[in-house]
Formats: sequence, structure tokens, C-alpha cells
Amino acid sequence: MIEIDRITKTYGTVNAVDAVSMTVETGSITVIVGTSGSGKTTLLRMINRLEEPTSGEVRINGKSTSSLKPHLLRRRIGYAIQGHGLFPHHTVARNIGAVPELLKWSRDKINARVDELLALFSMDPAEFRDRFPAELSGGQQQRVGVARALAPRPDLLLMDEPFGALDPIIRTRAQADLRQIQRKLGSTIMLVTHDMEEAISLGDHVAVMDAGKLVQYAPPAEIIARPATDFVANMVGDVERPLRLLSLISVSEIIEPGEAEGEAMPETASLRDALSACLWTGRDALPASRGGKVVGRVTLKAIRARAGAHA
Ligand SMILES: Nc1ncnc2c1ncn2[C@@H]1O[C@H](COP(=O)(O)OP(=O)(O)O)[C@@H](O)[C@H]1O
Ligand SMILES: [Mg+2]
Repeated sequence: MIEIDRITKTYGTVNAVDAVSMTVETGSITVIVGTSGSGKTTLLRMINRLEEPTSGEVRINGKSTSSLKPHLLRRRIGYAIQGHGLFPHHTVARNIGAVPELLKWSRDKINARVDELLALFSMDPAEFRDRFPAELSGGQQQRVGVARALAPRPDLLLMDEPFGALDPIIRTRAQADLRQIQRKLGSTIMLVTHDMEEAISLGDHVAVMDAGKLVQYAPPAEIIARPATDFVANMVGDVERPLRLLSLISVSEIIEPGEAEGEAMPETASLRDALSACLWTGRDALPASRGGKVVGRVTLKAIRARAGAHA
């Protein structure tokens, strides 16, 4: 558990971060969202002590981070920033293994970890291990950057606008991959973005920042249904509310027995995807699949009921 306790950073007379408190559960994704200059990066950098707080403290599993040497703290906290920050003249394997090497893991243990992570990120280890960053696509570089941050099994992974440089289509994929890997590894992640869409699709909790203050900290559905301030409401936008809610619910939640025509929808897809597939192909039900096998169906009626129930 990570407890942020009235943490404040003052530059001159301005509170870049103003008495922010929140508790982050282990094994969850918390997304910090806000407009430019709202203090997101400063908040993140105080957690691994790249910035020292003016006041307040951060505790990891009950222990104040101020009691640790900053360089030791940073070995336990991964940090991934926009762009991948890979060493261009090192192979993928050396890039991913950089911190474990610092920690003096054995060669075998490092190699095994590198291969495990590459496989998790859907990159065949035999094919990619010995490549250089320039021999990868933008999306692959991004994945290696995240794999590197996860390599030493950090207590916490901080990510500052990690997908900012990716084009929108790859971005959606990158978010889905991160989500899946986070679930698999049980990692604790705090991620910064200025994109509310990204925040609500990725976060177990969303922290909305405005002018250095935390204005709302809640699960995404709550942020959408009950925005705490006009600022939050504006960021969420009220035009597409039912659709946004559908993007938070997975097909697995409304599978029913029965058959349907046409291409199947994986149970991990969102109801928003299922709705667009129904509307796009003119079907009123889709087969639902699990691990490639059809296990039932999802109906347009059930999707609409879920949208209506929240709208
Ligand atoms: N080193 C610094 N010195 C002075 N002001 C800073 C410094 N770093 C950030 N700020 C100010 O603090 C505020 C928050 O910045 P930042 O945390 O980078 O916001 P965000 O990441 O949300 O865009 C801004 O007004 C910024 O100008
Ligand atoms: Mg920033």
C-alpha cells in the first residue's frame, strides 16, 4: 500500500502540488489526470524522490520514503517516461536487464527475466533479444521501455505520459497490453496522463488534479457518474456518457447462453466494442468467445440495458 500524506511542493510562491493525500492499493492502476501544469509530474517525481517535497510524506507499506536513500528507493520504484528512453547502442536484452544487472542478479536469472518479459509483451525472445532499439517499431520500443521498468519486480511503477508519443491506434493497443500485463504480474502502477479517456479506460482509480490540488479520487465509473466539480465534469464531457460507461464493462459480464451469427467477440472486449460490432454489422447478438472458443452470446438488448442502467 502506498500512502501519500498531504504532500506539497512549493516553487517560489506557487504550490505546484498542494497538500495532496491519497492511498494506492497494491496491485492496482491509479491514473493521475489533469491539464498541463496541474502538478502531475511533480507529484509523481516526489514519490521516487526525484523531487523532494516541501512538506508531507509518502509511505510505502507503512515506511516513510524519507527514511531511505534516494538511489535505493529508486531501485524499488520503476520509472517510465514519454518516449522509451532506451540505450540506443545496447541490445533489447541489455536494456531490459539494466537494473537487475545493477542489483547483481545472476546472468541466468537476468536472461530468464528478459525472456519472460519479452514473451509477456508478445515479442518472441529469440527474435528480439539481440536487436537494437533502432531495429524496432515505435510500439515495440515502447513495450521494451515498459518491460525494462518492470524487470526488477519493482514495488511500484511510475509512468509519466508513457503513451503520449504513440499514434491513437497503437495507443489503444498499448493501453490494453499494459492492462493485461499489470493484471498478470499484479504490479502496482501510478500513471500520469492529460487524457481523461485514457484515465477512465486504464485506471482502477482516477485522481483528478487541478492547479496542484487533488479534486477527485475515485473509481472511473464514479468519476463519470458523479464528477465532484465542474472542472471534472468538463474533463469527462457529458456527451458520450453512456458510451464511456460501456467502455468500462467487459463482455464477460453479460454473456448469456445461446447462439448468434457471425464473428465472435472475445469476452475480454468492452461492451463499447461489442456495441460498435453490433451496429456496424447490423446484428442484434454476437457470439462471445473465451480463449478462441464460443461460450455463449451477447445481445444488443443486454448491452443497451447496461448503458441505460447507468445513463
Ligand atoms: N523546477 C521547477 N521550478 C519552478 N516551477 C516548476 C518546476 N517544475 C514545475 N514547476 C511548475 O509547477 C507546476 C506544475 O508542473 P508539472 O508538475 O510539470 O505539471 P504537469 O505535469 O501536470 O504538466 C507548473 O506551474 C510548473 O511551471
Ligand atoms: Mg507533466
